[in-house]
Amino acid sequence: MAEIKMPVEPFRIKVVEPTQKTSRKEREELLRKAGLNVFNIPAEKVSIDLLTDSGTSAMSDNQWAGLMLGDESYAGAKNFFHLEKSIKRIFGFSHVIPTHQGRAAERILFEALVKEGDCVPNNIHFDTTRANVEVRGAEAVNLCVDEVFDVSSEHPFKGNMDTQKLERFIKEKSAEKIPLVMMTITNNSGGGQPVSLENIKDVSGICRRNGIPFYFDACRFAENAYFIKQREKGYQKKSILDISRETFSFADGATMSAKKDALVNIGGFVTLNNDELAQKLKKLLIISEGFPTYGGLAGRDLEAISRGLEEVLEQDYLEHRIAQVHYLGKLLDEAGVPIYKPVGSHAVYVLADKFLPHIPRDQFPGWALTVALYRESGVRAVEIGGIMFAKKDERSEKEIYPELELVRLAIPRRVYTVSHLHYVADALVELHKKREQIKGLKIASQAPPLRHFTVRLEEV
Ligand SMILES: Cc1ncc(COP(=O)(O)O)c(C=O)c1O
Repeated sequence: MAEIKMPVEPFRIKVVEPTQKTSRKEREELLRKAGLNVFNIPAEKVSIDLLTDSGTSAMSDNQWAGLMLGDESYAGAKNFFHLEKSIKRIFGFSHVIPTHQGRAAERILFEALVKEGDCVPNNIHFDTTRANVEVRGAEAVNLCVDEVFDVSSEHPFKGNMDTQKLERFIKEKSAEKIPLVMMTITNNSGGGQPVSLENIKDVSGICRRNGIPFYFDACRFAENAYFIKQREKGYQKKSILDISRETFSFADGATMSAKKDALVNIGGFVTLNNDELAQKLKKLLIISEGFPTYGGLAGRDLEAISRGLEEVLEQDYLEHRIAQVHYLGKLLDEAGVPIYKPVGSHAVYVLADKFLPHIPRDQFPGWALTVALYRESGVRAVEIGGIMFAKKDERSEKEIYPELELVRLAIPRRVYTVSHLHYVADALVELHKKREQIKGLKIASQAPPLRHFTVRLEEV
């Protein structure tokens, strides 16, 4: 792995949130009560929380100042118009529909477009887009390039969609059965890998030729743009804003969870060009989210999103952000901890089945690693593997596990320092040394869909 220099943080810390130390004994007890599910551990009892980069960002003083300018009028709050302006400047679509978070944006979009028996391709669906497709009685299909499953291939854009697979799929199913194609940037469930603009253009071309709408799941669009600037020929001199605009110019719309690249703790939106569809979405929005100029958010939240969307485009911010994630990857890689390579934008993914080769897939090595990591160090990570993404084989009723069994160490934006990263790396390295002691798990109770939020397990 190339030498990673850690740039100095492009911010000063003005407010701090104390964290608690816990004893190993206390953590053992907490895990027992939690049914060996780290989602059930009170956050106060987590020393470094790498469960997600979603909604966990530290806001800037500019965003906090924006909160005080929240206009809490029911309709037409000024903050909506600020948000609309920011989104239009970056995404370029004509309608902006705020929602309380990303999955609400997905739900209204899919409710309007997807019907029973349809198929929705994506590079790899995130769990909420998959669930929102499946709940409509439709099929969520992953058509990513095969390199994504080669955990050591240094392909610069492993998040790409396989265009041949897409063309074949459209031929097989017919375009009428595909109400939209989605593309997740960066590809969270496939190692957080970026998608190239060349691939975006190609996928867009295929969709246009077949009359299929093309949408982005754009949670980490700025991080994706940063990789394009770094790695794709011809983009080195372009700004993140220009690359983002070019990205979205190939699509019909996007959903976004603002909890990632809008640097806020809550919020989301759909943005699109189709007038008729936008009207349908607004109707659906009113039923469950709220009036179309607030969509389940307070005026102050809209303001924070608007400001965050501007800040995320800054080169210094992104350079530090990506370097921080890569620095943790380097610490682990150099100590022999198996990780997914290359490291993506928002997280380091540990290869749990390689870390724990003595635990078979049906004893959930990824989940077992999250439990062991918390027990050992108070660090919380998340499994992206057999518990989160298993499918049932209809005939045999057996579970089919996803190709990758990962533990994601997601790095919240602007929250942790280099010494936090060293603490996490040390904990994992120590655990790796005594990995044989970690036991496999079996499910005690579960409630699909999205069973990872509620599942309870026991050691085998
Ligand atoms: C790629 C992707 N899509 C959609 C979502 C859903 O967003 P939210 O949690 O705001 O509903 C997430 C959240 O982690 C995500 O990573």
